[in-house]
Amino acid sequence: MNFQLEITMATLSNNPVTARAHTNIALIKYWGKKDESLIIPYTSSLSLTLDHFYTDTTVRFDESLSTDQIIIDGQIPSEKSRQRVRDFLEIVRGKAQIAIPASISSTNHVPTAAGLASSASAFAALAASASKAAGLHLDATELSKLARRGSGSACRSVFGHFVEWQRGTNDADSYAKPLPDTGLNDIRVVALTVERGQKAVSSRQGMHLSVTTSPYYPAWVKTCQADLLQLKSAIEKGDFTRFGKISELNAMRMHALTLSADPSFTYFNGQTLAIMNLVKQLRHQGTECYYTIDAGPNVKVLCQQSTVAKISATFAQVLGDQNVIIAKPGPGVQYL
Ligand code: DP6
Repeated sequence: MNFQLEITMATLSNNPVTARAHTNIALIKYWGKKDESLIIPYTSSLSLTLDHFYTDTTVRFDESLSTDQIIIDGQIPSEKSRQRVRDFLEIVRGKAQIAIPASISSTNHVPTAAGLASSASAFAALAASASKAAGLHLDATELSKLARRGSGSACRSVFGHFVEWQRGTNDADSYAKPLPDTGLNDIRVVALTVERGQKAVSSRQGMHLSVTTSPYYPAWVKTCQADLLQLKSAIEKGDFTRFGKISELNAMRMHALTLSADPSFTYFNGQTLAIMNLVKQLRHQGTECYYTIDAGPNVKVLCQQSTVAKISATFAQVLGDQNVIIAKPGPGVQYL
């Protein structure tokens, strides 16, 4: 072992690194992989990073360990989750050319109640902490590519506010980048919980089934590109009405893929539909708001600072205060 290597290893084993990443809500959805192993999507997507929900992850590479030690929210997670983290660490070790086990401790400040995917903030925080702890100094673009390997939506959580994941065609050109500052900074997301349980069909399974069996998938790829261009122009112009309409429409187009898959499935339940109707009712009564829904029954309402109090109060009456959380645009990955 030469001197240089000794120094590197000493740094690795004594240097725990903690990173924080916020979750994001997609307005133009990512739904389908062209390459399932590298996580290259069929379409580009666009999201808003949220301030209220985040994951803190600490990683330390430690030669005294015989295997990776993984703790999530104070507990040893399921074998499936551990394997997903180990697979990701293998990518980091490969890049850093090390073969040292790591200890990982991660805390999600993403209430499962909010129905927001924690895999986006989880893999963005893990990518940032593990790469730095391994001695890699990745810029934000490289970090986004790395986070993408853990979970597609995680590549967007590297950045704050509005973020576009440019689909690319390979590992080198599929990554996210932030949109320039816009006039829509007063945007608010009201996260509504209608169900707290685990979803029956994971987004990974759901998108696979949609790609392989929905006859409408090619139409999705085509319309998604047009939706994305329109949403970007609405954001640039600060046009909330167009922004809301396109976001809502794109979410419904994604959910049409689940209904048209074989076997068909849906993430909606009765309450999801009731809330969608209530959003439309509020809109028709002059309180402008729109909905978007991910791979689960919970609904996120898009509105502006001027209407958020009224909208959250309306939903609190229906669902109870504890099921209504207001979020604002949030920051990109940070080291703590
Ligand atoms: C509906 O990023 O969780 O939230 O890449 O398989 O880990 P994997 O999927 P994931 O899917 C997110 C799906 C979505 C839409 C979105 O966030 O764009």
